Amino acid sequence: MANEKRVAYVTGGSRGIGEAIVLALAADGFHVVAVARNKEKLEGVVKAAAEKGGSVEAEAVDIADSAALTASIEKAIEKHGRMDVLVNNAGITRDGLFMRMEDKDWDDVLNTNLKSAFVSCRAATRTMIRAKWGRIINISSVAGMIGNAGQVNYAASKAGLIGMTKSIARELAGKQVTANCVAPGFITTDMTDVLPPQIKEKVLEIIPLRRFGETKDIAAMVAFLASDKAGYITGQVIAVDGGMTM
Ligand code: NAI
Repeated sequence: MANEKRVAYVTGGSRGIGEAIVLALAADGFHVVAVARNKEKLEGVVKAAAEKGGSVEAEAVDIADSAALTASIEKAIEKHGRMDVLVNNAGITRDGLFMRMEDKDWDDVLNTNLKSAFVSCRAATRTMIRAKWGRIINISSVAGMIGNAGQVNYAASKAGLIGMTKSIARELAGKQVTANCVAPGFITTDMTDVLPPQIKEKVLEIIPLRRFGETKDIAAMVAFLASDKAGYITGQVIAVDGGMTM
């Protein structure tokens, strides 16, 4: 029998933006399947959700492994009898000036950030189409909208997500399945903590709201897009960036 709760599958749920998304969706009543490479870290998120009455299960999956990712989604659909929301959040950076960038840094970033989203959408959508309800939410970046020096691989992967999402939105619109991108600006997480202070100061100068975002700022937008309230929004890129790309 199908799970009574709507089921959301969230990649990169162990920390940062993904963790906030998992907790927000669990608080909104979804059963969340949270995946990341490290199951131990995911268990902490499962516990934090449970303490507030939320329902989260954790699974260790390397999303760069297409077969493993497909199998994990198929398993979740079989177990719960449904798949309502897919959030492609996991992402990596391998920054460097493009003239010196190794093929491996390009391939790793494109595989993890872009190909994985294609693979997961392909695996999840048949069930959404059948239900005539579904939400695909891909976490892009302002780098995919305006580019960023030192991030040709990352910006290409995030711009690729935008083109892919709009195309999926067009293919699935007739079935009431929506697909949108959220493009975070500079959000305080492990990914951005590693940047040197002088870079952070420079970034602050181009943020009209003059502060970095928090993971909950992104999670709130994802939770909205995942809700019934957002049923008339598809093929959009919503920047949550303190005004950086206005
Ligand atoms: P983070 O580095 O703190 O967390 C990334 C998550 O993805 C972790 O849970 C990690 O385990 C998971 N992950 C990475 N590679 C994986 C793989 N091969 N298989 C399974 N899981 C994998 O990153 P953060 O900052 O929370 O970013 C989340 C998303 O938001 C990423 O797609 C990132 O590109 C995007 N983003 C972040 C911004 C920021 O300022 N932090 C700005 C714009 C976009």
